[in-house]
Amino acid sequence: MLQRPRGTRDFLPDEMEARAEIEGRMREAARRFGYRPVRTPAFEELELFTLRSGPGIVNEMYAFEDKGGRALTLRPELTAPVLRLYVNEARVLPKPLRWYYVDDCFRYERPQKGRYRQFWQFGAELIGVDSAGADAEVILLADAALRAAGVQYELKVGHLALLRSLLVDLDETARRTVMGLLDKREMNALRDALTDLGRADLLGSLVALVGATTLDEAFAVTGPLPEEARLRELVALLEAAGLEYSLNFGIVRGLDYYTGMVFEGFAANLGAENQIVGGGAYRLAHLFGGEDTPSCGFAIGFDRVMVALGEVAVPHRTVVAILSTPEGAASAFRAAAALRAAGLRAELDLSGKGLGAQMTKAAKTADFAVLIGAREAEAGVVAFKNLSTGLQETLCLEDAVARAAGREVDAPGSR
Ligand code: HAM
Repeated sequence: MLQRPRGTRDFLPDEMEARAEIEGRMREAARRFGYRPVRTPAFEELELFTLRSGPGIVNEMYAFEDKGGRALTLRPELTAPVLRLYVNEARVLPKPLRWYYVDDCFRYERPQKGRYRQFWQFGAELIGVDSAGADAEVILLADAALRAAGVQYELKVGHLALLRSLLVDLDETARRTVMGLLDKREMNALRDALTDLGRADLLGSLVALVGATTLDEAFAVTGPLPEEARLRELVALLEAAGLEYSLNFGIVRGLDYYTGMVFEGFAANLGAENQIVGGGAYRLAHLFGGEDTPSCGFAIGFDRVMVALGEVAVPHRTVVAILSTPEGAASAFRAAAALRAAGLRAELDLSGKGLGAQMTKAAKTADFAVLIGAREAEAGVVAFKNLSTGLQETLCLEDAVARAAGREVDAPGSR
């Protein structure tokens, strides 16, 4: 038997319906913030990601050469593609642009609970504004989408300027090493790396900064920075909005394009892969041939949302089973069409079994049964059964549709 590739999943209808329900709630949150959907190709030029996304993600890419010798890759994330789309097609549109997406990404990672090689992101990008208000809006949308989905999580907001200000003297490679170790909170390895760099003196202030929980504590470590006013404004906006979050200046983010505010969210019941959202302010448009454009965004790991939620109650929609004998078959198809036209889910029994067996099956899966045998077909009526009360009545098709739709009908025999 052939199996699906490692790190991928199949989804059966129950799970797809649960996913659609949650996705719908998150899309609705985006709509209420004025964000509109975009879609980009599943594969892109490899260079789109090698330009700035950072070595972590580049090593994890499903890169390949196509038959024309082009270097391509399945997208590992959607921020670079969406900014490429902006530069290609939307540079002249009035800003800011508020866009969101729900699409799959591909990363060659070691699969485990909550970590897959094909996974879905719900993300948003706010393009063309650079302000505390823009940072706040993006954080609040991420929070609204997670809350609409019903996820309990912890939100951490930080800013890269503070950490970078402590590391200004290091070269690019050394800074990346230090930030990578901080990201993973590998403090022993960090001490060793700083010692090797001859900068063991930095350890104390790095630890103090990562431990700071207020702006005052953080700026006491770094000294005054130009970003301070904007950060204070952001904090005031988030507090005015009543957002629950904490400040954390140890947030580094795995991708290399971030320039300022960064944030991450963690769900409690996810185990090791508990980061459910990540985002921040960044600049990419100028790398793709556009003007230097400030942007800010986030992506929520949609599969992690589903793991965090566990069982999802999908609202029940009425199911009508349509049972018939061979003489009633044509009428049964007509009845199904009428029910569907009224927006109801109508399922024809195609088993060819007797009405008794058809009814046994319907009782397990449907709310109502519409029975059409030779007698009903001849008389132009249907037998309509409410499968929860057991009540059965003979109705014209129009009244049966109304009953199934939950509408009142005239008493049988009154017309
Ligand atoms: P990221 O942190 O690499 O950021 O991914 C965002 C989210 O995708 C993660 O927080 C996690 O929930 C989910 N995720 C990542 N890898 C996997 C995986 N292998 N399996 C399941 N879920 C995963 C970005 O991708 C940025 N583009 C976010 C962004 C948008 N920044 C600005 N705009």
